[in-house]
Amino acid sequence: MNTATGFVREIELPQIHDPRGDLTFVEGGNHLPFDIARVYYLYNVPVDAERGGHAHKHLEQVVFALSGSFRIKIDDGVNTSEYWLRDPKKGLYISKLIWREMDSFSQGAVCMVLASHRYDEADYVRDHKDFMSALRMTGA
Ligand code: TYD
Repeated sequence: MNTATGFVREIELPQIHDPRGDLTFVEGGNHLPFDIARVYYLYNVPVDAERGGHAHKHLEQVVFALSGSFRIKIDDGVNTSEYWLRDPKKGLYISKLIWREMDSFSQGAVCMVLASHRYDEADYVRDHKDFMSALRMTGA
């Protein structure tokens, strides 16, 4: 999916396979199109929980399922799609101005997010109507 303002794409990180266990690493600016300013993770998520439900004005993120699985529903203002994350080395890059919702967490799932900026509530767009207005203002 690719629009004038927002897009998502899958990112696959290196995996060092070893009988002692697999190792994956990530370098900001190398494997990701931004330097990592913040890492946060979701855990103890009830299986019926719904997370997200917002877009960002500037923030870029890559989302991983470090354990278990969950669904991310994507809305760029024109098209919708959905992704299932379940492989710890495969993340979903989400640019600015993408509406995302996350649900269907498996029991014990851990979601890790690498973010381009530190936390800033002013960067959130939490109302879908405001999201559509923001897209119109950018000419999408
Ligand atoms: P929010 O981003 O709305 O969660 P999600 O999109 O996963 O459903 O954040 C939930 C709360 O946590 C909200 O009060 C803001 C706070 N928060 C921080 O203080 N720092 C952070 O880095 C993040 C991601 C959230």
